[in-house]
Order: sequence, then structure tokens, then C-alpha cells
Amino acid sequence: MMTKMNSTILVAGATGNLGQKICRELLKRNAQVRAIVRSGSNKEIIEALEKDGVDVFEVDWSNQQELISACNGVHCIISAITGLHHVIVDAQLNLLNAAVAASVPRFIPSDFSCDFTLMPKGENRNFDFRKEFQQYLDSLPIKATSIFNGCFADILRYNTPLFNVPEKTIGYYDDKTDWEIDFTTMDNTAEFTAATAMDKSSPRFLRIASFRVSPEMLVDLSEKHKDQKFQLVSMGSMEEFSAFNKMQRATHPEGEQQLYPGWQQAQYLYSMFSIHHPALDNSRYTGINWEAVESYI
Ligand SMILES: NC(=O)c1ccc[n+]([C@@H]2O[C@H](COP(=O)([O-])OP(=O)(O)OC[C@H]3O[C@@H](n4cnc5c(N)ncnc54)[C@H](OP(=O)(O)O)[C@@H]3O)[C@@H](O)[C@H]2O)c1
Repeated sequence: MMTKMNSTILVAGATGNLGQKICRELLKRNAQVRAIVRSGSNKEIIEALEKDGVDVFEVDWSNQQELISACNGVHCIISAITGLHHVIVDAQLNLLNAAVAASVPRFIPSDFSCDFTLMPKGENRNFDFRKEFQQYLDSLPIKATSIFNGCFADILRYNTPLFNVPEKTIGYYDDKTDWEIDFTTMDNTAEFTAATAMDKSSPRFLRIASFRVSPEMLVDLSEKHKDQKFQLVSMGSMEEFSAFNKMQRATHPEGEQQLYPGWQQAQYLYSMFSIHHPALDNSRYTGINWEAVESYI
């Protein structure tokens, strides 16, 4: 499956949490790693990346010539940038156009989410940006692979309505007590993404999960590993949840300028109970140790 041991892979968003991990996983796989950063990007992180062997290019993302120069000779671009429309659509599109101009053969967009292609428009604002970018990506002469990792597993440590440790409650919607949600650690996502970048034959979509767990399974696991009794709590219907999120969004327009306002976090929870992967591509690459749910309970 690994096709070229010295592929040159360009990482955008290399100073981010996921981007840094992807760079290190690519180096482990003997890729030539190039990162594009901005003038204001974190200098300590850049120094650490350079020390590890990453070639760092500082670019002005509005300057197409600078982006094209950074893309020259690259076999695959991984985008791990984060932001609102001006980042996920506008900035990524600048990079995509530069990639096509420089004849880069492959592009991995900054999707890293549930499979938003299955989600109707209007239910998750941040997914809608990705849907819009997908239309550009699929209209241009470049091969793309989106990686759908479900939800980063860390969320299980943040006391959400799904898994609230102080309250000892585990929430669900409709009758979805046995609905399995896909969770992937950031480390596993980075490992899989690096392997995908080195794989010339990767398909348009790949779906992964370190583990899948339902509200009912969380109750059992908590009792077993925390020795505490958790209550399953009905949070209402999915229809009510969707309507509530739309109302929250309409009454909090300031959230349109924020990446994760309250209503956006609720839209992610709604997505977790709306979409799960029909099948996983975990076994496509060898050498990835998929984290177990027990580490998060
Ligand atoms: N599935 C999940 O549960 C989940 C959870 C969290 C994140 N994610 C996804 O994972 C991916 C990476 O997220 P992350 O948490 O690693 O992000 P992060 O740590 O916030 O890093 C964001 C990166 O984007 C870059 N960036 C921001 N604005 C930019 C712009 N205008 N132009 C160019 N670069 C820009 C930043 O560069 P500078 O250093 O220059 O600012 C930084 O490198 C995203 O697709 C995100 O949506 C998924």
C-alpha cells in the first residue's frame, strides 16, 4: 500500500494540535515533510517542527504565487487548518487552486469529522463549510481523500450531556440508547492520515474509529471501571433537538463569528446521534494501535 518512501507531503495547519501530530507521523514514515505557516504562527512550535526535520515555508495565504511555490514538487497536501468560512472555504480554496496550478496530484482536506456528506445542510454550521469546499474540490483535476474520524475521543473527558461524570448521567435522544458513536483519538487520526497521504490509491472517503460506544455501553463501562452507577437520561427527541439548535443559533448571532459557540457544540452532539459509519477502514494500513474506550472512562 505504501507507494513512495520519499514522497513530499505538504501540511497546512502544521502548527495546530492535529497538524503537529501529522507532521511527526509523516516523518516516521520517511516522508519529506513541508509545512506552510503564517507570519504570526507560533514560533516555538515552528522551531520544534524544524528541529524534527520539517521544511517550513512561511507564506502569505492571499499570495497565490507564494502558495504555488510552496506546492511545487509536492505529492500530496494535507490540510489540517481550522476556522470559519474564510478559513475552511476561502483559505483552503486558495491552497487548492495553487495545488492544481502546481500539478499536485492529491489533496486531503481539513474534514476530520463525522461523515458530513450524510448530514442535511443547516444542521451543523461547521459541516456546511466543509460541504461547500467539497464542491470546489470535486470540480477540479486533483484526487481527493476525506478522512472521517467521527468525534475526537477527548470529548468524553469534558462532561458533555452525553457523558457527565459529576452528575453521573449518560444522555441519549429518541430511543437511541444502543446507538454507537464513532470516536477516534487525535493520535490515531494523525497516524491514519499520514499513512493515507503516502497511499497513492486512497479512495475518495475513508472512515475510521478508535472505538465505537453507545450510551448503554457507557453505563456498563462506567459501572465496571469507575465502580459508580450512571443513569441513562432521555434528552428528548432528535426533532426537538434540531429545532432547539436552530432557535439557539437564531437568537445568538454573535456565535456566527465564533468557532465553537454553544449552539455549534450542540450541533456536533446532534451530528453524533445522526450519523455513524456503516463500515470502518481501520485495517487499510498496518501498524496503527487503535486506542480502546477504557482509556477514556
Ligand atoms: N472530529 C472532531 O471531534 C474534531 C475536534 C476538533 C477538531 N477537529 C478538526 O481537526 C482539524 C484540525 O483541528 P485542530 O484542533 O488541530 O486545530 P488547531 O489546533 O486550532 O490548529 C488550527 C491550525 O489552522 C491554522 N489556521 C487557522 N486560521 C488559518 C488561516 N486563516 N489561514 C491558514 N491557516 C490557518 C493555524 O495556523 P496558525 O498557527 O498560523 O494560526 C493552525 O495551524 C480541523 O479540521 C478541525 O475541525 C475535529
